[in-house]
Amino acid sequence: MGLFRWNLLPRALLNNDIIFKLVFSEKIRLKILDCTPAGIYEAVAILDQGGLLGLPTETVYGLAADARNESALQRIFQTKGRPADHPLIVHIGNPEELGQWVQDVPPLAEDLIQNFWPGPLTLILPARSDVSRWVTGGQSKVAVRCPALEATQSVLKTLGRGVCAPSANRFGRISPTTAQHVLADLGTSIEAILDAGPCRFGLESTIVDLSVEPAVILRPGALAVEQIAQISGYMPQILKRAQNTRTSGLLDKHYAPRKPVQLCSTSQLQDPDLLSSAVYSEAVILSIVRPACPGLWLEMPVEADQYAQQLYDALRQADASDKPLIVIESPPQQPQWLAIHDRIERASR
Ligand code: TXA
Ligand code: MG
Repeated sequence: MGLFRWNLLPRALLNNDIIFKLVFSEKIRLKILDCTPAGIYEAVAILDQGGLLGLPTETVYGLAADARNESALQRIFQTKGRPADHPLIVHIGNPEELGQWVQDVPPLAEDLIQNFWPGPLTLILPARSDVSRWVTGGQSKVAVRCPALEATQSVLKTLGRGVCAPSANRFGRISPTTAQHVLADLGTSIEAILDAGPCRFGLESTIVDLSVEPAVILRPGALAVEQIAQISGYMPQILKRAQNTRTSGLLDKHYAPRKPVQLCSTSQLQDPDLLSSAVYSEAVILSIVRPACPGLWLEMPVEADQYAQQLYDALRQADASDKPLIVIESPPQQPQWLAIHDRIERASR
């Protein structure tokens, strides 16, 4: 690892092919594991020995460590550059393990688990006293989720313990939705990445805080809020801002590229007079409609689920381009676009 210096490479060279060739030429120690029984076995051994693993899930890739190993948990914070008091989500392979982490499972939690686990839903509940402060950020509650992806299930069930896994990106940046993204962000500082291909949802799990009454949504995500409302019998309030800044996904600026991001309307994009300015010719434009103004167009899907699946990759491409500005057409306002609006608004602040 010693001789390898990312910052000596011209940015244009940092495309996926070249990154993978560097890995395979063994200039860095990191292993890319596939989802064969041997790959899963090695991934589990790394976690068991206190290592860090790029773990695929159906939402985004996580930076995984044994949730009962405090030195492994500390490495998560160092690797991400994340403040030490920001709590982590515990990932479990089987809903029955929830009792190892929380004091009590209220009826609404049971109903949500029945309907949506395994899946992209994170529940926040009062924590048992033996849960590490590295997991809870020193709070009295803990976040737990049971991921659905088969490879994640295999890892968690074979390990037989909970695993903490924040998104595998540097703090405040764009979550990774492919193994290549994890490699580009954290490749020199973790042991391995389990490569399960691109994530199905591409947006993080929906987080519901059940430690308060009535329940509130801390982060809209891959599971629609309406589906939760059908089970709870009421539409939970969606918190817009962190009342305490330890819910990092609620920070004003989060999920952010390095370059400035501006939002604009569809009509602005189609008005050549408004957007003929030199500013936009220097932009990468993420939009469903073809823009009438100059600039580099990244065409986005019309359907919300496909848009979500591609959004983070598109933002990464825009960030890696030679254009200094990212412009995003504000998508439709229907409910299925809620989590996408949340992310692009935070990226643009
Ligand atoms: O889809 C996901 O949830 C992904 C995959 C890898 O599972 N994980 C993920 O983790 O997005 P992370 O750490 O990047 O985002 C979790 C969010 C953070 O904003 C964190 O502050 C919040 O959940 N959180 C975790 N535990 C909490 C707690 N006890 N109370 C309040 N917020 C909590
Ligand atoms: Mg994150």
